[in-house]
Amino acid sequence: MEQLTLPPIKHVSGVVHLPGSKSISNRMLLLAALATGETEIRDLLDSDDTQVMLAALKKVGVGVTALGHNAYRVIGCGGNFSIKDADLFMGNAGTAIRPLTAALALTGGDYRLSGVPRMHERPIGDLVDGLRQLGARIDYTGNDGFPPLHLHPAVITVPQTIRVRGDVSSQFLTALLMALPLTGQGAVIEMATELISKPYIEITLNLMARFGVVVEREGWERFTIKAGQRYRSPGLIHVEGDASSASYFLAAGAIGGGPVRVEGIGKSSIQGDVRFADELEKLGAQITWGENWIEARGPAGKLKAFDLDLNHIPDAAMTLAVAALFADGPCRLRNIASWRVKETDRIAAMATELRKLGATVEEGVDTIAVSPAPTLLTNAVIDTYDDHRMAMCFSLAALGGVPITINDPNCVAKTFPDYFDAFAQIAAPVIAIDGPSASGKGTVAERVAEHYGYHFLDSGALYRLTALHALRNGIALDDEGGVATLAATLPAEFTEGRVMLAGDEVTIAIRQEEISIGASKVAALPAVRAALLERQRAYRRFPGLVADGRDMGSVVFPGADVKIFLTASAAARAERRYKQLIEKGLPANIHALLQDLQERDARDAQRSVAPLQQSADAELVDTTPLGIDEAVAAVLAIARRELPVVSK
Ligand code: DC
Repeated sequence: MEQLTLPPIKHVSGVVHLPGSKSISNRMLLLAALATGETEIRDLLDSDDTQVMLAALKKVGVGVTALGHNAYRVIGCGGNFSIKDADLFMGNAGTAIRPLTAALALTGGDYRLSGVPRMHERPIGDLVDGLRQLGARIDYTGNDGFPPLHLHPAVITVPQTIRVRGDVSSQFLTALLMALPLTGQGAVIEMATELISKPYIEITLNLMARFGVVVEREGWERFTIKAGQRYRSPGLIHVEGDASSASYFLAAGAIGGGPVRVEGIGKSSIQGDVRFADELEKLGAQITWGENWIEARGPAGKLKAFDLDLNHIPDAAMTLAVAALFADGPCRLRNIASWRVKETDRIAAMATELRKLGATVEEGVDTIAVSPAPTLLTNAVIDTYDDHRMAMCFSLAALGGVPITINDPNCVAKTFPDYFDAFAQIAAPVIAIDGPSASGKGTVAERVAEHYGYHFLDSGALYRLTALHALRNGIALDDEGGVATLAATLPAEFTEGRVMLAGDEVTIAIRQEEISIGASKVAALPAVRAALLERQRAYRRFPGLVADGRDMGSVVFPGADVKIFLTASAAARAERRYKQLIEKGLPANIHALLQDLQERDARDAQRSVAPLQQSADAELVDTTPLGIDEAVAAVLAIARRELPVVSK
């Protein structure tokens, strides 16, 4: 089995772009398929669960085209699937099997739906009971009340009221609501029991309305769909970021200091799980809301202990169970019975794994109580039960300053295939080394990276590559727009000490003086710096990063764990560069080198954006009197203070 060991994490901060919401993606795909007309869906989540839905829709004859960059065109079937006989594999995707079962059962055909073994343990009886009231013919081919299912053609008649239970999963109601307009008849649904997870029904109603079907709701007990409504494509539609996925990053900001900003959801989000931020606030986090982002910062000390009813945010609530490890007293999560029938029995799984970290945990039928230990037990190996949320939640335990091993980390693919890369963007330790040209910071940074087993970013090389690429493409170095466009898609690669540009080796070419001067010119252009920002941040991966440049600590990684300003006198630097060039057999003149260095220093220091300067929180290392070994030792001595554990 694969394992991922996360290093101890001391501090988190940064920005994460959320992948599309799973709940919205799968609902939109089905509604687009059921509508008349073509729908273009942008920012669809790319994950196992959406692939399951896409594959099933294709199998029943829906035209789906991938347009690239997570955009899809869906040709609606107007409520009549063209293929009436199919075997459909639904994996472990509850958001796919439930609504699709309802839609297929009411439109007629012979369909067999099955999934992974766990799917065959997840109840669907309440939905089948609801559909049978309309005359749908559905057989259980395994155990009664659970998939696999066999659907047969049937005469569908909508009774005066349909009664459905809402206390096991709100997805049964969602499935019925989405499928009922296909009958063309009016319908009234009454809840036979209390409805759980109400915000998910709000998502359903909101999306149905965008596809032209209005549902009248009386409290959470009665839902009326007037006759004659049909789904119509809204044309172009966007999926907002996944609010459940946001919970891990927001909690990380609350536990590990922050600020951590998630982009893709905000004030006007339609997902109930954005309310997770309010719960986090009750634990002492500072939350700021934007139109399209939410930001979290931690309190000065520990999180406050809590006792909360979390029925409205069942998925994001799991994140609070792990956050409880960082609270100042015993915590209780209430009204979370639905955890028992999710990807795994989440109450049992959570209890077992939290205990591995030293917490005292009490399991109730629909509650979990977590009493944190003063410090986390070290080297815990966390089982994930093929449950993406278990893997994502427990990544937060590394913020307790202990390494955490996650078993089967790839189970995150269900909803967030790149989760650990995104988590690294806020959590992987960063050592930022800034300073002027030829201060020796490149060599020092590389040696420090080697010492820790960290990744290494030579940001200057990106500016050098941009200058070279511009010159090779005939773009003037002061053409800000032109150079920035090239920088945004720089075809550069760093492999085993070699630098490649558009397939050409340029390791030596980018070190020529002409390019040094060119790099300094393009680096002064704000649009070029903006174009390279994301690319630089993407280097932040586990187990950590050493980044060298001019603005690593001030702009690119302002939350860096270690910030160093490495410098030397201009004369010492000119001499070092001279020796380097001579060693490489390149022509060199010490006076010209000194003059160039001074001019570049001035340009780098005087430019309007990210000028070269020692920021207040960076420590100065003056290498004028130091050899390279001494310079490395000086940096390591500082790093050791901030990063107590060497993770190599
Ligand atoms: O570190 P270097 O000499 O390879 O950098 C080349 C040029 O790029 C230098 O003039 C400064 C600029 N640069 C920058 O502006 N910001 C960075 N983070 C790195 C380099």
